[in-house]
Amino acid sequence: MSSKSKRTIYPIVKYGDPVLETPAEPVTEFNHELKELVEDMFESMYAAHGVGLAAPQIGINKRLAVIDITFKENADARLVLVNPEIIGREGKQTGQEGCLSLPEFRENVVRANVVTVRAQDVEGRWFEKTGEELLARAMLHETDHLNGRLFISHVSALKRDLIKRKIKKLMRAGEWE
Ligand code: NI
Repeated sequence: MSSKSKRTIYPIVKYGDPVLETPAEPVTEFNHELKELVEDMFESMYAAHGVGLAAPQIGINKRLAVIDITFKENADARLVLVNPEIIGREGKQTGQEGCLSLPEFRENVVRANVVTVRAQDVEGRWFEKTGEELLARAMLHETDHLNGRLFISHVSALKRDLIKRKIKKLMRAGEWE
């Protein structure tokens, strides 16, 4: 339960910041601050129109991510992953993927279609969750973030270089902050 009504909306860290490519540290304290941070992460994610957000994307190098593939439609769909590990992958799906840290860029990414994650909740209790299609994709994408990996690492080197070149251009123009 949270008594704080005013939430903090964090700015989203963009590609180029080393925090996005650094493996995050495990969460060890399951305290009030963690619960506040999780709520702030959901609000920051919604404010940025995303369906998933990992802590490094707000500059916090912790193994923590939030997901809501229904975007506020179903409160039960809110998923908090603390210290997640992917423990099962089945099948394949190909679909467009994007990332709040790489705004405007979307590419087809092949992912497992059914994924099982093992993680802790905000109280520190371990659980396993299996998801398919978009949820599977989100669980993989967010867990990747916590391992310092971005979705562009799953596209061809050619496409990745093109994206990096476009971003450098945007940086030089002052349009990537
Ligand atoms: Ni992302």
